[in-house]
Amino acid sequence: MFVPGLIERKRERGALTADEWRGLLAAYAEGRVPDYQISALLMACFLNGLTREELPGLLDGMMGEGGHLDFGRLGRPVVDKHSTGGVGDKVSLVLAPLVAACGVAVPMMSGRGLGHTGGTLDKLESIPGFDTQRSLEATMAQVERVGCAMIGQTPEIAPVDKKLYALRDVTATVESIPLIAASIMSKKLSEGLTGLVLDVKLGSGAFITDAARSRELAETMIRLGEDRGCRTVALLTAMDRPLGRACGNALEVEESVEALKGGGPDDLREVTLAEGVEMLMLAGRTDRGAARRELEEALAGGRAARKFQEIIEAQGGNPAVVDDPAVLPQAKQVEVYAAPRAGTVLEVAPRPIGRAIVQMGGGRQKVDDVVDPTVGFVISARPGQRVAKGEPLASIYARHDEDVRVARAALDQAVRIGEGAASPLPLVAARMTVTGTEPVAA
Ligand code: URA
Repeated sequence: MFVPGLIERKRERGALTADEWRGLLAAYAEGRVPDYQISALLMACFLNGLTREELPGLLDGMMGEGGHLDFGRLGRPVVDKHSTGGVGDKVSLVLAPLVAACGVAVPMMSGRGLGHTGGTLDKLESIPGFDTQRSLEATMAQVERVGCAMIGQTPEIAPVDKKLYALRDVTATVESIPLIAASIMSKKLSEGLTGLVLDVKLGSGAFITDAARSRELAETMIRLGEDRGCRTVALLTAMDRPLGRACGNALEVEESVEALKGGGPDDLREVTLAEGVEMLMLAGRTDRGAARRELEEALAGGRAARKFQEIIEAQGGNPAVVDDPAVLPQAKQVEVYAAPRAGTVLEVAPRPIGRAIVQMGGGRQKVDDVVDPTVGFVISARPGQRVAKGEPLASIYARHDEDVRVARAALDQAVRIGEGAASPLPLVAARMTVTGTEPVAA
């Protein structure tokens, strides 16, 4: 294999064959191709894209000789969801136990916070004792016994993606539709799923802020999933404001528990139910209305909250968190943020909020940073709301005065108050499948 020739072909907008991708990435996994050549190749892919025919070859190469989960012997549908990431996006914490409580197997493999967005693993790890680093065997056994496991990527799953992702992170080659699609789907397709729901975020807080490109990303992932026999549906959901009120790891767990008990903010409940209906339909339900009622009953009747307790217990965490949020680590300081003027809340921008959480210690600025689970915000201000000067709009949870200052500056930037009408994006804008896109009724 002559690697400079392959790089040159991508540079000149040509395509590699599936065999070439497989051979090249296998050699990379074994340390026979250096990072600098793969970096050059990634940049050529970033700039010139991949042809539709070429992408499955890259996907195979990323999955490499990695391990996978196999739930064949369960004899029931196995469904997961994946979000492209946002601020306050705690849907996975509610959805996985909820759908498992309805009898569907959910082997949920999630990630950590990335950039300004939070990560499900960091949120779960704010529950004392909760272990997200489980082996494939332990995960399979737990899914068989409890119906759900909530874990991080194991070393065996899509090992080449892991190496490539680390390289992309430091070579400015993350925001590429084919590279993101192959990376996400290499992990999801290793989970042995029969169905997958994608939550593709739209708006200023999403990684890809251009709506047309978000749709292209959704289409690309749907095609990769369907071609591998995994039925794949995408919902396009709003990330032009934080989802729910709580933003920050332990605070989001507390809000998720409220939602699992049938309460919590309306927008969180709505997105969770919309994705839950899709998951149940992929699992074989035939009536969307009945699927929604099934989910609502699991929330109201306490089965979803009990399932979360079972999952926490199975993974070494303290299940008392479901009855008593005081079990979660608590912030040293709590301060109120009041409206600096009267008017209409025109915007609550997610990015300054997400960035402030990272700065306050709730995310990582370096790979080895230790996350403080206690910090963050509970923001009650919603776009469209009329507010009086001095009215409380948010609570700040911080470690010390300096972080409170960072948080106040972020809220000054994020919460825009003025005159006129707010124009938030629809919460769930569209549903995409392999056959096309349909709007979702408000
Ligand atoms: N998440 C992933 O797993 N991969 C990407 O490339 C981007 C987000």
